[in-house]
Amino acid sequence: MCGIVGYIGDKSPVEVIMTGLHRLEYRGYDSAGVAVVNKDGLGCIKSLGKLKILDAKLEESPLLGQTGIGHTRWATHGVPSEVNSHPHFNVAKTIAVVHNGIIENYYELREQLKATGIEFRSQTDTEVIAHLVDKYYQGDLFAAVKRALKDCEGAYAIGVICKDQPDVLVAARHGSPLIVGLGENEGYIGSDVPAIMKYTRKVMYIENGHVCEITRQGVKVEDVNGNPVQMEVKNIEWDDAAAEKEGYPHFMLKEIHQQAAVLRNTLGGRVHEGSDEVQLTDMNISKDELKACKKIFVVACGTAWHAGMVGKFLIEKFAKVSVELDLASEFRYRDPVIPENSIMIPVSQSGETADTLEAIRIAKSRGAQVAAIVNAVGSSVARESHGVVYQQAGPEIGVASTKAYTSQCMAFALFAIWLGETRGVLSKVEAKELITHLRQIPDKVDEILNNQDKIKELANRPEYRDAVGCFFLGRNVNFPSALEGALKLKEISYIHAEGYAAGEMKHGPIALVTETFPVICIAVKGETYDKMVSNIQEIAARKGLIISVATEGDKSIQAHSKDVIYIPECFEAFSPILVAVPLQLLAYYIAANLGCDVDQPRNLAKSVTVE
Ligand code: G6P
Repeated sequence: MCGIVGYIGDKSPVEVIMTGLHRLEYRGYDSAGVAVVNKDGLGCIKSLGKLKILDAKLEESPLLGQTGIGHTRWATHGVPSEVNSHPHFNVAKTIAVVHNGIIENYYELREQLKATGIEFRSQTDTEVIAHLVDKYYQGDLFAAVKRALKDCEGAYAIGVICKDQPDVLVAARHGSPLIVGLGENEGYIGSDVPAIMKYTRKVMYIENGHVCEITRQGVKVEDVNGNPVQMEVKNIEWDDAAAEKEGYPHFMLKEIHQQAAVLRNTLGGRVHEGSDEVQLTDMNISKDELKACKKIFVVACGTAWHAGMVGKFLIEKFAKVSVELDLASEFRYRDPVIPENSIMIPVSQSGETADTLEAIRIAKSRGAQVAAIVNAVGSSVARESHGVVYQQAGPEIGVASTKAYTSQCMAFALFAIWLGETRGVLSKVEAKELITHLRQIPDKVDEILNNQDKIKELANRPEYRDAVGCFFLGRNVNFPSALEGALKLKEISYIHAEGYAAGEMKHGPIALVTETFPVICIAVKGETYDKMVSNIQEIAARKGLIISVATEGDKSIQAHSKDVIYIPECFEAFSPILVAVPLQLLAYYIAANLGCDVDQPRNLAKSVTVE
């Protein structure tokens, strides 16, 4: 996702900022920019594309000054372009802002500001911050930012500079990460430790709701109401390689841990604080089209296909529209019958998967409306579809998909509720209740992540770690969880793993179960819990090594299982999002214990752009 770097001090701000932005390149971005305060005012250079283009521009027209901010943008509101890249300015170009995150109420703010005569230059949510700071500026940038942020809802980390106060750099955080770095007569801001670690190892981790005034003399931290906050200074001891991974040994583990925040992002832009209505405006499907829709086609590959299977369940349950789910590589060759008023939902993290793209082209040529669930903004899938729901998961670097999967499931949940309400299948009250359940998911994911000792311990037990093969079983909405759990384990640990619908066990697979064969059984509380327990008993009778994934408080499951991994109680339809997390962790720790190349498993590619 986006990167922020800022500097105040005697070094060249541009040099510090560009070094930092280069260190954040691994996060992915589509454009970049830097602004500096100097005696002539605010200088700024931006560019679309890679940082080397910005480097070349800066070499041609150097930007000199004493305080500056820079940004790499990963588009969320508005296409990737130079105009939409940061920094953004107020009308008089005296205030510059860089921002990570999403201002959820930006549309209302934008309309209010436009009504006062302000003309917006970009399509971004960020630009409202620059105009708001300007509105409240009375000679004190720190005060103006604090006041402006009271009007903003959503998640952000920001850096702000002002032509009239060249000795001040202001930064704030609410939801998106932000650190302040300390040096002798200088100060830094960064969205991430690697951004500034070439220059300093002394950092403050800014917390939600805090605003900082950074000068050469030091750092003042307050909340938006002006109450002072005492901050601890920490010493970063990571080496360079660990820094990009924020101290995690692998990107996959970092991405697993990002999931609660990512899920809040996926939800955030679509269900605003204080409202219980889903808004999927970028889907570009009218209410009439949604009402007329008779059939939905979901196409995807790999992990995204598993998310599609969760999506099928949710759409049929909450919107009562029949869903056909296809592997994109099959859909494109099977001459599908696409009735009138069909909608296709392609699902893709990268947005560049060749088979998924071809499936979209076929569906379009046969008259379907195509609305994609995609992570990579501006990718081919997003461009070729009529509409899109962006997952807002940030770049995923580990080849094995984790945060992209759970955010795809979340996007499907939102779509299903939206469709159900629009079609009159769900009442407002029912939709509201579902949203309440969804809102609890990120905290529950955090809970799982904070209690992973048991999973680590299981992953180090020889009977699981050294197994030659295993099954993952689930039913109903957690059948896809079984498929995804097995895929995660096999792709990174090379242990042969198969996911099955538990009801299928008796039709063949159970022949493989012996006393050395692990079977991971997803048995969370819900409609098919009793059936799942029966399946577990059948496996126990054949002495299979059962690990059950069960709902917190379910003690009886222990009687039939060798081990139990508990997850918090959860509304069943949304439980695949939670179930995914321990299965990802189990796969990760087993693979790491086996010394596998977790982030780049053999033979696999992150994005499959050929057939
Ligand atoms: C590759 C990746 C998987 C991914 C699949 C589909 O196989 O390794 O993690 O699920 O492609 O990719 P997409 O980018 O379309 O989601």
